[in-house]
Amino acid sequence: MSAASDNQGALVRADAARLLARVVFDGVSLRAVLDARSTRGDARDRALLAATVYASSRWWLRFEAMLKHLLERPLPAKARDIHALLMLGMVQIEVMQMPEYAVVAACVDATRLLGQPRLAGLVNAVLRRFLRERSALHERADSDEVSRHAHPRWLIERLRADWPRDVESILAANNCEAPLTLRVNRRRCQREAVIERLAREGVTAQAPGHLPDGLLLGESTDVSRLPGFAEGHFSVQDGAAQQVVDLLALESGQRVLDACAAPGGKSAHMLERADIDLIALDVDAARLQRVNANLQRLGLSATVRQGDVAHAESWWDGRSFERILLDAPCSATGVIRRQPDIKLHRRSADVIALAATQARLLRALWPMLAPGGRLLYSTCSVLRAENEAVVGDFLADQKTVRALPIAERFGRAAGAGRQNLPGNKGMDGFFYALLEKTR
Ligand SMILES: C[S@@+](CC[C@H](N)C(=O)[O-])C[C@H]1O[C@@H](n2cnc3c(N)ncnc32)[C@H](O)[C@@H]1O
Repeated sequence: MSAASDNQGALVRADAARLLARVVFDGVSLRAVLDARSTRGDARDRALLAATVYASSRWWLRFEAMLKHLLERPLPAKARDIHALLMLGMVQIEVMQMPEYAVVAACVDATRLLGQPRLAGLVNAVLRRFLRERSALHERADSDEVSRHAHPRWLIERLRADWPRDVESILAANNCEAPLTLRVNRRRCQREAVIERLAREGVTAQAPGHLPDGLLLGESTDVSRLPGFAEGHFSVQDGAAQQVVDLLALESGQRVLDACAAPGGKSAHMLERADIDLIALDVDAARLQRVNANLQRLGLSATVRQGDVAHAESWWDGRSFERILLDAPCSATGVIRRQPDIKLHRRSADVIALAATQARLLRALWPMLAPGGRLLYSTCSVLRAENEAVVGDFLADQKTVRALPIAERFGRAAGAGRQNLPGNKGMDGFFYALLEKTR
């Protein structure tokens, strides 16, 4: 390896350490730190940086326990980038299976790039000791469930209480990388044509039988560079989210509300499927810009409104809707494999606050639904408090509602709805409950 490429390896690791420290110590989301980083430079370096920050966030709670054991005393707060560097060094060796001594050497060089030359010896010593003592460190990490599963204790406990028979498989699925699933825009092209066009570029894709618009890519890639993306032939969307539109049973001419629409994945899918009159509402103006950009790229149109569901006077004209989608803000505990930083950022108390918000949004929307109309309540959470408990309480209170049955293919029966558990059919964790207004 040349001196230039050696230095490049150190540069990438120094950058990755800074970003990882932002995620872990400042609570910034993985997506936000990676979106904000420069798009210049070598594509392979960018891919390595993103893969490293993702894997290190995913396994932080496991390797953190090992690092504690390897360090004689905790690192000072001002050395937090070095803390992150040590963590990503171990993850690159152990999880990403990169050549051991090349990783150690690049991390030592990165220490200097991070402005901490006096810690280069420590980084070298800690990573080399890690290499010598790996098996004992793993054994020790396996003795506690937080480091064994790389999940916070509160979440393991909640998952165990909610899904006693499935807890181990949920935790394991959360620690896997998610597949890349696309949704083909049937207004613009056919699935087979997309498969053929991608194949000509060497990208393999297959059509899963349970998703009429879905495409599963053979490997992860920068989708925005694929042929057809700019022309709006497809979007990225997990299969569980694609199933939402099937439950809504949309018909031409219907007036439909997507009450929590941003960034617009499900709004777009509805418009690709049926000629409806759609209001795409969201409280977050910045996120609504992404709805507009997505609809424009896909050649679709809706009334995109900024507003709070609970303050209807600011956005609703009083005409009822035949369909409402409430894809509620939630803990996102069903999509941890895509957003592993959730394990580091989410707190138990958030779940209680979210459940209260979900119940409030559901109650606020009900008067806007026409008699005979359907409201689909969905979340990407796997916690019963945000799903069947919210819907169960609503059903107990309301006289004009009945829950419609949902087919088994949507997942486990969960109160009046169904829950797809993470990894089932390769999809994210997702909850669906379909409510009809009786009068
Ligand atoms: C799970 S995301 C929606 C994802 C979206 N349905 C999609 O498929 O692309 C939840 C959204 O709810 C929005 N939200 C939260 N509280 C709201 C409120 N009171 N009124 C309207 N939107 C709200 C958030 O800004 C966020 O964009």
